Amino acid sequence: QKVNQSFFAKYNKFFIDGTIWTLAFAAISVVFGSIIGTLLAIMKIGTSFILKAIANVYIEFIRGTPLMVQAFMVFFGTQIIGFNLSPFVAGAIAMAINSGAYVAEIIRSGINSVSDGQSEAAASLGLNRSKALRYVILPQALKNIWPALGNEFVTVIKESSVLSVIGATELMFQASNVQGASFKPFLPIFIVAMIYFVLTFGISRILNIIEKRFV
Ligand code: ARG
Repeated sequence: QKVNQSFFAKYNKFFIDGTIWTLAFAAISVVFGSIIGTLLAIMKIGTSFILKAIANVYIEFIRGTPLMVQAFMVFFGTQIIGFNLSPFVAGAIAMAINSGAYVAEIIRSGINSVSDGQSEAAASLGLNRSKALRYVILPQALKNIWPALGNEFVTVIKESSVLSVIGATELMFQASNVQGASFKPFLPIFIVAMIYFVLTFGISRILNIIEKRFV
C-alpha cells in the first residue's frame, strides 16, 4: 500500500488552505495592528494625561495577558453581547488588538531612538512639536520602525497558531484536522512545522534584502 503517496494526495489541500489563512491572519494583524499601534503611540507621546493613561493601560494589559486568553475573550465576549462572530473574524480582531500593543511599543522605541539633539535642532529652527515630529523625528525613526514591523509580521505568522483554540482555520487547526482524519499524530505536525519554518525563514530573508536596499 502506497501510504505516503495517498497521504499527500488526500490531505495537501488542508495544508494549502491552512497556509493561506495563516498568511491572511498575519497580514490583517500587521495592517490593523499598525493602525492601532500608531494611534496608541500618538496617545502616548501626546500631552493629554487621560489619553496617555488609556494607552498605557491598553498596552500593559495586552502585553501582560496571553494571546490565547485574548482570543477566547473576543470570541466568547462578543457572543455574550449578542454578536455572532465567526472564528475567523474573532481571531482577526484578537490578533489586531494584540499586535497593536506590540506595534505601539515598536513605534515609541523607534521615536525614542532618535537623539534629543534632533528635537532641539528642530525647535531652534522654529518648528513646533508636531512639525518637528513629522519632518525631523519620524523620518529618522522609520529607519528603526520598518525592520521591527517586518519582525512583527514574522512573529504574528507563528502566534496565529494560537487561534486554533477558537476553531479558526489556519495551519495549526488544519494539522489537527489531518491528525484526526488520518490517525497519524506526528506527520501532520511535522509538515506544518516545515511550512511555518519556510514561511518565517523565507520572509525574514526577503525583508532583510529589502531593508538593505531601501532603508
Ligand atoms: N506569545 C505571546 C502571548 O501569547 C506573544 C503574543 C504576540 N506577540 C506579538 N508580537 N504580537 O502573549
